[in-house]
Amino acid sequence: MKKITIAIDGFSSSGKSTMAKQLARKIGYVYVDSGAMYRATTLYAIRNGMTSKERGVDTAALVAALPDIHISFIITPEETQHTLLNGEDVEKEIRGMEVSGWVSPVAVIPEVRHYLVKLQQQYGKDKGIVMDGRDIGTTVFPDAEMKVFVQASPEVRARRRYDELIEKGTPSDYEAVLANIKERDHIDTTRKESPLRKADDAFELDNDRLTREQQMDVLIKLFEEKTRG
Ligand code: DC
Repeated sequence: MKKITIAIDGFSSSGKSTMAKQLARKIGYVYVDSGAMYRATTLYAIRNGMTSKERGVDTAALVAALPDIHISFIITPEETQHTLLNGEDVEKEIRGMEVSGWVSPVAVIPEVRHYLVKLQQQYGKDKGIVMDGRDIGTTVFPDAEMKVFVQASPEVRARRRYDELIEKGTPSDYEAVLANIKERDHIDTTRKESPLRKADDAFELDNDRLTREQQMDVLIKLFEEKTRG
């Protein structure tokens, strides 16, 4: 069967990562969470004093530090994927509210995007990959054979993120999570550099109405169509 590239895009907490991970496991493809790469870069900026309430993100300092930011992934013995920042497992930290609060302003910086997009394209050079994010079908892999755009309402997404945080033992407030999601939607869709939008040739998946099993059925059918012949 021919190997293809699968791009899954959508808003934050739309369920796309879970879906992409499951799909990759089912079809034996590599999974890459591009959002984790923006989050790890953001964590680097926070840790190195490049973010402040008064002045925002110190873009010049972060851009100068990009060659020192090395992001990779490992599969833990429990079979889950963890993100490494310069060799350190930062999976838990990059999911917290502090990183979530700074990640959109970091992700609008063109140099950060170019740096991470190049890395993402390297991961995908041999195909056989499922990557999820915001601009995978439009910018990272515009020639991907299979593109999916996941739709879900802000309220459903906020509830999902809130439940995730509580499950991980992070004290959280639903209204704050909803506000953060709405703010990130706004920044993600209105930024100049590769804003979040559905690629013309992407298949639209409505996450509010379909169960997880139904979504997987749709994805597998699409995958079979794309790899046939
Ligand atoms: O999917 P996520 O919530 O983990 O993504 C974190 C942030 O990274 C999100 O606010 C937008 C940004 N992002 C991006 O700009 N481009 C991507 N391909 C993936 C994520």
